[in-house]
Amino acid sequence: MIAPFLQGQHVYLRSLERADLQLMAEWLNDADVTRLLFMGLFPANLESLTAQWERDRGSPEETTFAVCDKTSNQFVGTTGIYRIQWVMRTGEFRVFLGDKRVWNRGIGTECAKLMVVYGFEKLNLNKIWLGVNADNAGAVRAYQKAGFVHEGVLRQEQYRNFRYYDAIRMSMLRSEYEPIREGYLYGNKKYMKASAK
Ligand SMILES: CC(C)(COP(=O)(O)OP(=O)(O)OC[C@H]1O[C@@H](n2cnc3c(N)ncnc32)[C@H](O)[C@@H]1OP(=O)(O)O)[C@@H](O)C(=O)NCCC(=O)NCCS
Repeated sequence: MIAPFLQGQHVYLRSLERADLQLMAEWLNDADVTRLLFMGLFPANLESLTAQWERDRGSPEETTFAVCDKTSNQFVGTTGIYRIQWVMRTGEFRVFLGDKRVWNRGIGTECAKLMVVYGFEKLNLNKIWLGVNADNAGAVRAYQKAGFVHEGVLRQEQYRNFRYYDAIRMSMLRSEYEPIREGYLYGNKKYMKASAK
């Protein structure tokens, strides 16, 4: 088993491995999963996912984790911080739970919190932002619960399902994280201290 990198209550996050990509391809071809996403416009295949995985894992601007359910030890999705701008100290948070059986169990919220911890504590970011389809009510709710605030609306940003959707931009600043950080560290407190040396 690959060692967990970050611990939540329901999930742990570990490195995304080549062996995970087959399941990723299946999820990305599932219309229920990608209904409100930018992904899923073209059929996913193992070859292109592998090429992307190889590009991303060497990149200092992208960091992706496999999300694993603690009870079943199963890989259920991905999360990460992408498009990191080291001068601006910003990064984009994303989460993708491909296994529909785990939806609405608090995992999306927990991934958002874990990436907030990671982004501010380890990467020294100043702002973590995200974009979400305005009709993706479960996602918006999860991000609000994790402490992200509404920043603005991008009108008719996405075309899907024979219509245009607005997108919402949300973000969290380092100054907004500071007052809530103790509660967010959970099992990572020791790890954060140890690896801060
Ligand atoms: C969107 C996603 C990340 C959310 O993760 P999750 O683990 O299912 O979400 P959580 O359980 O943490 O929180 C969802 C919240 O939204 C609520 N919710 C779900 N569907 C809802 C709806 N249609 N209307 C209003 N609220 C809704 C849930 O009740 C829950 O709130 P509560 O805890 O206050 O009851 C996950 O379902 C997913 O990855 N879906 C597929 C891909 C996707 O849409 N990714 C997001 C791209 S921005």
